[in-house]
Amino acid sequence: MPEIIIVKNEDEAGAIYARCVADLIKAKPDAVLGLATGSSPLAAYRALAATVRREGIDMSRVQGFALDEYIGLPLEHPESYHSTIRRTVVEPLGLDPAKVHVPGDVLDGAPLEDGGLIAGAGAAYDAAIEAAGGIDVQILGIGSDGHVGFNEPGSSLASGTRIKTLAERTRIDNARFFDDDIDQVPTHCITQGIGTILKARHLVLLAFGEGKAEAIAETCEGGVSSFCPASALQMHPHATIIVDDAAASRL
Ligand code: GLP
Repeated sequence: MPEIIIVKNEDEAGAIYARCVADLIKAKPDAVLGLATGSSPLAAYRALAATVRREGIDMSRVQGFALDEYIGLPLEHPESYHSTIRRTVVEPLGLDPAKVHVPGDVLDGAPLEDGGLIAGAGAAYDAAIEAAGGIDVQILGIGSDGHVGFNEPGSSLASGTRIKTLAERTRIDNARFFDDDIDQVPTHCITQGIGTILKARHLVLLAFGEGKAEAIAETCEGGVSSFCPASALQMHPHATIIVDDAAASRL
């Protein structure tokens, strides 16, 4: 079962992540970090950036792989996960942009109709992760419906990186990044699969606030089920779930 750590706030969670990753990079300068978007990991990235500066950690060889990306947004769109990862992780941590990958990078806004390009992208991404030596620490948020990455309820727990349709609830949740206009939210995405995520050597899932309480209860105490994709963490030998009191309120 995952280890569950209840913290006072996001900064305390961020400090735990930062210590873990900073120690990893000191021991393994070419460590491979699994990166996530969303608001949940932001304090963790800030804490890591501060630790890197304070302890003078060399980040030049660190590699990164993001979880997911929208289909159909140009890479430079401010809400593409390519841009988001660049802004929230690559720049503050001083990572080499050439060593940080996002699943949609090869698509660069290609529409869904470009079936050939899109079909090959998922398998190529999984192969790139393997070639890099596999992910050492994968940071995860969780959707209010229990999704991780963009693996919506019903996703195969053995899935690799692939194209998915976004659930209506996720598009509503994410409309806040698109002028509160759901019509601007892409309908499809490319996401690491649950099977891909489970291959990472350490999973760190962060969740804060009452809105995540139900998903966290299902993740930790429900049965392992594709209807709550995050529940797959129960099968992982080294998973850490860090939550505040509100997100833990239904445990
Ligand atoms: C998006 C991302 C997920 C993220 C989720 C929750 O759907 N694809 O990776 O975990 O949002 O976001 P937040 O952390 O902002 O609640």
